[in-house]
Amino acid sequence: MSKRPQFPNLVLFDHPLIQHKVTWLRDGQTSHRAFRALLAQIAGLMVFEATRALPTEEVEVRTPMEGTRGLRLSAAVTVVPVLRAGLAMAEGILEVMPEARVGHLGMARDEKTLQPVVYLRRLPRDLAAGPTILVDPMLATGGSAVASIELLREAGARDLRMMCLVAAPEGVERLLREHSDVMLYAAALDREINEQGFILPGLGDAGDRMYGTV
Ligand code: PRP
Repeated sequence: MSKRPQFPNLVLFDHPLIQHKVTWLRDGQTSHRAFRALLAQIAGLMVFEATRALPTEEVEVRTPMEGTRGLRLSAAVTVVPVLRAGLAMAEGILEVMPEARVGHLGMARDEKTLQPVVYLRRLPRDLAAGPTILVDPMLATGGSAVASIELLREAGARDLRMMCLVAAPEGVERLLREHSDVMLYAAALDREINEQGFILPGLGDAGDRMYGTV
């Protein structure tokens, strides 16, 4: 893990396993099937760090040998993928944390204005019951992430964190300026966004690459 002084709430994953997989994701020759699998695998690895400070409680358990005490998660965790591209990341997180709840936010970026348009919102009623992890592979202008966090707050979320794969400095700056209490976890901090709002070098449009809709 590494940090950048200008973004104290950003955690970057420089682990070789994650970087290896990110390189395959960036490769334009990688198939849809492999792309989906890689997104899920990376999210599954990143979630270990993103959940490091989750609250736990002590419980009694009987092994086949004797009684002992152990820890278990004490709060309901909600994973919220931003459709479409967040779905594969959510799948990877559920492999590791199958008891997590899943809320869905459908959000598409208007290609001309680059503004996010919400088309689906399906969230658990008691988001305040535990941490909420927003997942979306791309953080470009930050418009979708900021709108998502605002929706989640309106729905009651208190403890918020976001996981993305590739982030642009513009998006990181905007998200952490507008929501300074949010922890952001990313596998790569890229150079910039272009005029069409694509991250450079990036990995293209993650939703299209996942589902072959290029
Ligand atoms: C992409 C991406 C984010 C958003 C990032 O989604 O998955 O949701 O754009 O851009 P921003 O930071 O500038 O808001 P897209 O609109 O392409 O939808 P899709 O996942 O359905 O392809």
